Amino acid sequence: MTDTASLQPDTILKKLGPSLFAKNFVFHRSLHSTNTVAKELASQGAPEGTIVLAEEQRAGRGRMDRRWLSQGYLNLLFSILLRPPMPPDQVFVLTMILALATIKGVGEISGLKPMIKWPNDLYVHPKKLGGILTEFSAKGKGVEYVVLGLGLNVNWSPDDDEEISNPTTSILAETGLKVSRNDLLIGILKPFETYYRKVLAGEIEDFCKRWNEYSILIGNDVEIESGEETVRGKVLRIDRDGALIIKDDEGKEQKIVSGDVSIKFGEAG
Ligand code: BTN
Repeated sequence: MTDTASLQPDTILKKLGPSLFAKNFVFHRSLHSTNTVAKELASQGAPEGTIVLAEEQRAGRGRMDRRWLSQGYLNLLFSILLRPPMPPDQVFVLTMILALATIKGVGEISGLKPMIKWPNDLYVHPKKLGGILTEFSAKGKGVEYVVLGLGLNVNWSPDDDEEISNPTTSILAETGLKVSRNDLLIGILKPFETYYRKVLAGEIEDFCKRWNEYSILIGNDVEIESGEETVRGKVLRIDRDGALIIKDDEGKEQKIVSGDVSIKFGEAG
């Protein structure tokens, strides 16, 4: 039997070997949200590197209090607890290195090349493959903990699910391949650990370059909805602090710190 069927924490830990993420590996078949559980564990003093992995979430959450829907036993749903010595305005780097590690893991197991859609999504354009929910607790000028939660559509056929309205895809839908979620998780956690250690050593520039290279927004005309406001412009870059830098219709640079972006096609200029 292949191991595409179920998540096997023992196999994952054995294959992961010595790792920051082997210290406190928490697995639930069903829970409300891996991010919520990871935050609860963080406030109870759980160590850096704690992983919360689930087959199914009853109340998966996305950015801006949206729901994260995912059919159980087919996808990857997990959260990573970190305690980095960094100020809150550097936390975006952690979201990006998880996105880059996911791109690597997905590419190696399936050949698929997802892209990053600012600020936290993974796309096989024009469809969403996954998303990252980053939450942190600040303490003084630093962070007490950061929880990075990844929801990645793996062996699911999103079209079969009527509750999903936004264009959504999965590794299976894109490639026809059913992959081992155990191996995929390892293929994400290993590079993520390497990248995280580099970030802690102050090596951020190269990652910043790479998340710009993998961004589907760079060079595109976009519309950003942020609260009541809609801003339009061409995307120039994504800065280290997570801001999206656009050139607006008047040729002025604008710094966007949050919002929902859509790419405009078929427009002149
Ligand atoms: C988004 O697209 O806005 C982010 C979605 C993040 C979903 C993941 S699934 C694992 C973790 N637990 C949650 O409740 N959310 C994240």
